[in-house]
Amino acid sequence: MIRVWDGPEELARGAAELIAATIRQAVAERGRCALLLAGGDTPRRTYELLAGPPYRDTVPWGGLHLFWGDERCVSADDPRSNLAMARLALLDQVPLSPAQVHPVAGQLPPAAAAAAYEDEMRAFFAGGPPRFDLALLGIGSDGHTASLFPGQDAVAERRCWTAVAAGPADGLARVTVTLPVLNGAARVLFLAAGAGKAAVLPWVLAPHGDDEPLPAALVRPESGETVWYLDRDAAGQLPVREGWTP
Ligand code: 6PG
Repeated sequence: MIRVWDGPEELARGAAELIAATIRQAVAERGRCALLLAGGDTPRRTYELLAGPPYRDTVPWGGLHLFWGDERCVSADDPRSNLAMARLALLDQVPLSPAQVHPVAGQLPPAAAAAAYEDEMRAFFAGGPPRFDLALLGIGSDGHTASLFPGQDAVAERRCWTAVAAGPADGLARVTVTLPVLNGAARVLFLAAGAGKAAVLPWVLAPHGDDEPLPAALVRPESGETVWYLDRDAAGQLPVREGWTP
C-alpha cells in the first residue's frame, strides 16, 4: 500500500500517527510492542514528533521495546550512530527503561556486535521466529534498505538474523538485520522523501522481469503488510499514484 504525502513534514506526521497506533494496538492486544527503528535522516522528524504532544503523553511507552534495523560500527556518542540520532530525537524525551532499549553494540568489533545483537533478538522472541509489530525502514538511492546493500553477502543471508555489511560510500562497517527478520514482521513501513529517491522507487515497487531485485524489493513480509509512505518528490517517477498496491 502506498500513501503519497504533500511533503516531508506531512509524511513524518503520518508516520508518527501510524507508529503510535501500532504501539497502542500491540500493547493492548499482547502487552508489548516490538518496534524496529530505521537509521539515516528521513525518520528523524518522525521520532521528534513522537517525542512531543500528543504522542508523548498518550503512547503506552512502558510496553515498547526498541531495536534497530541497522547500526554503524561506531561508539554510541558518534554522530554517525543511529542510536545517537534516536536518543536525541526520541529516547531521551520519553519514559523508557534501559531494559526496553536494545541497541547494537556499535563499539564492539562488527562480528561480535552482530552475534550479540542476534542473541538479544532471539532471547526477546524466546527462541521463536522474529515478529516485529512494526519494522521502520528507509531506502537508499541504490535500493538498499537497513544495511542490505546491493551485491553484498548480507542480502543473501537466510539463516542468521544479523550480518556485517559495509557502507559502499565510506566502507564503514555496519551491523544489519537480515531479510528473515524484516520478512517476519507484521508490518513494514518504508519512509522515502525527496527527489533523490524518485529514480529508484519504480525499480523497487514495479521491478522488471529478469532484473536482479534490489534489496528493498526483497522485503515482502510472509504474513504481514508493506506500507510505503512517500512524499510527492519521491513519488515523482512512479507509474501509478496513491493507493496503488505493489
Ligand atoms: C542507515 C539506514 C539506511 C537509510 C537509508 C536512507 O543506517 O543509514 O539504515 O538504510 O535508511 O540509507 O537514508 P536517509 O533517510 O538518510 O535518506
